[in-house]
Amino acid sequence: MREYTPETITDAVLDQMSTTADPRLAEIMASAVRHLHAFAREVNLKPHEWIAGIEFMTRVGQMCTPARQEFILLSDTLGLSTLVNTLHDTTAIEEATHTSLLGPFFRENTPTFARGAQIAKGAEADEIVLFGRVTNAAAEPLANAQVTVWQTAADGRYDLQANPEETDCRGIFSTDENGEYLVRTVRPLGYYIPMDGPVGAMIKAQGRHGMRPAHIHFLISAPGYRELVTALYLAGDAHLEDDVVFGASGDLVAHEQIADPDCPIRDLPSIRFDFSLSRESEADRLGGRVGADPSAITAVAAE
Ligand code: BEZ
Ligand code: FE
Repeated sequence: MREYTPETITDAVLDQMSTTADPRLAEIMASAVRHLHAFAREVNLKPHEWIAGIEFMTRVGQMCTPARQEFILLSDTLGLSTLVNTLHDTTAIEEATHTSLLGPFFRENTPTFARGAQIAKGAEADEIVLFGRVTNAAAEPLANAQVTVWQTAADGRYDLQANPEETDCRGIFSTDENGEYLVRTVRPLGYYIPMDGPVGAMIKAQGRHGMRPAHIHFLISAPGYRELVTALYLAGDAHLEDDVVFGASGDLVAHEQIADPDCPIRDLPSIRFDFSLSRESEADRLGGRVGADPSAITAVAAE
């Protein structure tokens, strides 16, 4: 009869799991066990610390609802979501605009707007225009691409935080025959990620500020192309370099212009940004996106 020691337990678990039929599940679980055990050995994990970790993960699960995904927030704040996104970017068959976090405020339920419509209901102040082209990797325009946009209102809150019953500051647009999109909106503000749960407690314990820089989310799709989930970050924001969820990156910083002669709506500040999409590979059809509408995750978990 074998006896387990800190040195032998890992191989014993790997041996027992070696009957896993699905080869990818086998690879992922074996690696997860190796790294988990190595972590416990490295920090010499004590029983009370192990139970504190179990309690923390339990609170993370209990915080999840159809409107909130605390596990994704945990993944975001630990940089895992951005790691998975950047790994995904390296598998594109063509160089295209890079991804950024989908975040917890994406909703499948989003109204469709005509070109140039205003998506913010209270748009008296701080109006801006977003425009540019959606192209393929060879810079050829993609007509009829679907461009979904969502962001905070001018007070720094998403519609879901202000009034979950109503949609605001989100919309679906289409590109025209030249691949051009045109959106009228308000300037978003930076904001705190949800800080009232276990992830917020972790952020405070780590002495982190919990802020995201001001940004506008985009989800762009066209038949035959890899879906692009990304965001534009407003130049000049104080938190571009220390975004709590590691979404902001230099290639996604957008500069506001005061009177850009190319902007189709005059007399408003504007942001021009051209997006490019990579052709879709066979693997992309299975790949999925990093993130989801929280209500969709809750529905799958309940099955
Ligand atoms: C957001 O962009 O809305 C977001 C992303 C990750 C965590 C929290 C918020
Ligand atoms: Fe956001």
